[in-house]
Amino acid sequence: MFIPVEKSDNPQTNYERLLETLPFYINDSDPWYTTLANASSVLDYFLDDINWVGFYVMHGEDLFLGPFQGKAACTKILMGSGVCGHAAIKKETVRIDDVEQFDGHITCDADSKSELVIPLVKKGKLIGVLDIDAPIKGRFKKVDQDYLEKVVQVIVDNLK
Ligand code: SME
Repeated sequence: MFIPVEKSDNPQTNYERLLETLPFYINDSDPWYTTLANASSVLDYFLDDINWVGFYVMHGEDLFLGPFQGKAACTKILMGSGVCGHAAIKKETVRIDDVEQFDGHITCDADSKSELVIPLVKKGKLIGVLDIDAPIKGRFKKVDQDYLEKVVQVIVDNLK
């Protein structure tokens, strides 16, 4: 994908660039899968030290694999299961420093050591979750959570 924005060595600068750049690649008149596809690509471009980034989308009662960047992953996650299902049922961000310490973590990629899951909620309704996996423990700090929650808000605002 063509992104005319250079990456910085400073993660915070990259988050600012991500927030500036994303709106150019998503459009509120597009279907949800188009928006989430470009969002996963832009996130993958700007985030360092991750091995998977993408979305699980509500379909019926459960979460199903949506657009992502990374290795092929589990296709269906039951509400309340794993880190994703836990964040979905609570409608709250879940940040895990060590996935082995999370009871019920679902391993899709054995490389994943830490994980951040942020629910996509529009007008109180759960649409799905953003899931990011990292190959190192403790990859995601509060500052990452804060910026990525802003990114999710931009995405949600552009979903029909
Ligand atoms: N680890 C997640 C499953 C999805 S993969 O990481 C892509 C979970 O426990 O819900």
